[in-house]
Amino acid sequence: MADPTGLPAVHRGEGTGQPPEVDTSRASIARVYDAFLGGKDNFASDRVVYDAIIEIAPQCAEVAKANRRWLNRTISYLSAYVGIDQYLDLGAGLPTVENTHQTAQRFTPHAVVVYVDNDPAVNAYGRALLEENDRTHFVTADLTDPAVLLAHPTVTRALEFDRPMALIQCATLHHVDDEANPAGIMRHYIDTLPSGSYIALTHWWDPADGSEGSALAHELERRWRTSSMGTGRYRTREEILSFFDGLELLEPGLVELDQWWPAGPPVRKLSLVEHLILGGVGRKP
Ligand SMILES: C[S@@+](CC[C@H](N)C(=O)[O-])C[C@H]1O[C@@H](n2cnc3c(N)ncnc32)[C@H](O)[C@@H]1O
Repeated sequence: MADPTGLPAVHRGEGTGQPPEVDTSRASIARVYDAFLGGKDNFASDRVVYDAIIEIAPQCAEVAKANRRWLNRTISYLSAYVGIDQYLDLGAGLPTVENTHQTAQRFTPHAVVVYVDNDPAVNAYGRALLEENDRTHFVTADLTDPAVLLAHPTVTRALEFDRPMALIQCATLHHVDDEANPAGIMRHYIDTLPSGSYIALTHWWDPADGSEGSALAHELERRWRTSSMGTGRYRTREEILSFFDGLELLEPGLVELDQWWPAGPPVRKLSLVEHLILGGVGRKP
């Protein structure tokens, strides 16, 4: 029978000591996100979720694109202006047009980037592209288990924990359920980072004010969670702020993505769904 993944055996992890094969029968957030970004590394099960979301929020692809623009602006700022030269990019996702190491190394050629993801498709497709040079590394690990992740030999070899670094949690924690204690997970990372380190984080937002936007956040959350992907949380501003506990939040704070040091004035009015994500950057004193 034909292999439904279409991937060569090595990409399915056979005999490689790599994580399990890509399961195309259920959607995965890495591949659904790829679909929203217009990528090709997604399957029918992912596009079912994509369609269910687009049905009520036709501009949802713009959220993914704004999130990538925010990530690029943040990395540019940290590498060009702050001088950060070590990056731990958690839940890095499938490679796309401008990845963290490309931005960081453009400004700081010696910058080291460690990408982490637990999705088999990212492992299969992403590793080769993301490990583009000897200063970029890919680790398969679960970001909800900071103790194990931070002790991974690639992480401890590549990053110097006695010097400031940046930890990236871009569009990741809204896929971590409340039961997994995302604030506790962040506390562990923040406690471990050296003083002078930065955390860059974006997260789906529920304005929780009885507005049309809040109602949309609830319905989107219901659709994500009842899909075969099974995760997705729109949290309140206070809940998201709790992930920065112990950090100094940089100006302009935790704000809608295009309000965080935008490249210029808006060129159009945003649709409702584009307001439902916030981003912020914190510095450990
Ligand atoms: C929406 S994508 C965001 C990708 C990228 N950070 C960005 O902002 O463009 C979320 C990524 O987080 C990864 N992810 C989700 N839960 C994870 C976990 N527990 N451990 C590691 N990676 C995880 C997914 O596999 C996916 O690649």
